[in-house]
Amino acid sequence: MEQPGFWLCSRMGTILSVSDNCHRLVGDTLPEAEKQFSGEREAYPVSLAPMMDCTDRHFRYFMRQITRRTLLYTEMIVAAAILHGNREKLLGFSPEEKPLALQVGGDNPQDLAECARIAAALGYDEINLNVGCPSSRVQNGNIGACLMAQPELVARCVEAMTSGGIPVTVKHRIGIDDRDSYEELAHFVRVVSGAGCSRFTVHARKAWLQGLNPKQNRHIPPLRYEEVYRLKQEFPHLMIEINGGITSLAQAEEHLTRVDAVMIGRAAYDNPFLFAQCDRDIYGDNTTPPTRHQVATAMLPYIEFWLAKGLKLHQISRHMLGLFAGQPGSRAWKRHISENAHLPNAGAEVIAGALMRRDVPHPSPEVIAGALIG
Ligand SMILES: Cc1cc2nc3c(=O)[nH]c(=O)nc-3n(C[C@H](O)[C@H](O)[C@H](O)COP(=O)(O)O)c2cc1C
Repeated sequence: MEQPGFWLCSRMGTILSVSDNCHRLVGDTLPEAEKQFSGEREAYPVSLAPMMDCTDRHFRYFMRQITRRTLLYTEMIVAAAILHGNREKLLGFSPEEKPLALQVGGDNPQDLAECARIAAALGYDEINLNVGCPSSRVQNGNIGACLMAQPELVARCVEAMTSGGIPVTVKHRIGIDDRDSYEELAHFVRVVSGAGCSRFTVHARKAWLQGLNPKQNRHIPPLRYEEVYRLKQEFPHLMIEINGGITSLAQAEEHLTRVDAVMIGRAAYDNPFLFAQCDRDIYGDNTTPPTRHQVATAMLPYIEFWLAKGLKLHQISRHMLGLFAGQPGSRAWKRHISENAHLPNAGAEVIAGALMRRDVPHPSPEVIAGALIG
């Protein structure tokens, strides 16, 4: 059945394929019903957070080998870049990455509407507006967290974006600077929901727009989960997703008793395999989680595909360093890849070599058998 240049991998009951054909910009592999929010239960109770320099297409494809169902986000892309930049480079994705949301940064309703139409035409499942980034560079463009002080403008943006015909969602903070009362947060959500936002992803800390850089703004302001729970209580008809400081599926399940969905960022990048049980335990799929070896092995044809297109190995392998996080062989895995992936002509054999190292743990025969059956 295998054809040259074509690879089929049966995983978790899903046939994944990688071919030239599949790496086109537009992909659409899920049935229509799976793309819609159910109206009762959040279709995506768990998502991978948008992260600049992290959640590019290669990391997303890698994540897809671990979880088939989790909603994945792109990095934030500013509207002007989408409208005037290299679309294939900025927006290209493999159909296997779906369900996939495009996160945009902007404050101009017409531009954002055009971005939403482009996203829809390319096959993205959702478009998300960034109202949470506190960096001074984006503030200068009136993008990101500073928009929390302008709910009417955000509402106009959201309304315009609905013309794309895909769900429009907003990711925001619980407040900015001294404007961080629950009432101000609720006002923001009320105004923006009226414009057609179908889900609010709330990073449960405020942002200081002056004085803290983006990294500090991700850990210095304290987490205030209670305010996100309260939003869900007071706006039960809205989909509320919580974000910030969540590092395990067990924690995610706790939050899911109070809100509709959980978004995980840094922990996903540092320890992507924490999502391995997600499809079964949270989405309720009747599947066996993959092994780390299966995940890494599934990346080999993908890596070969991209190397043939001129990519350097480290552009993909850098995203795989966390695969063995918390395992005895994690350091050896990382060292092997880091030391070899930059060498001239480094190829997929670097990953295969890291997997074969004696100091990288191998799955037991029982685990392998279980994964094959699953
Ligand atoms: C390296 C990095 C880049 C990020 N880039 C974005 C971004 O492009 N858009 C965005 O909305 N949030 C961005 N964030 C914030 C995350 O999406 C998330 O809200 C934050 O990290 C808190 O979640 P966590 O504690 O699960 O990491 C970024 C975070 C990190 C660590």
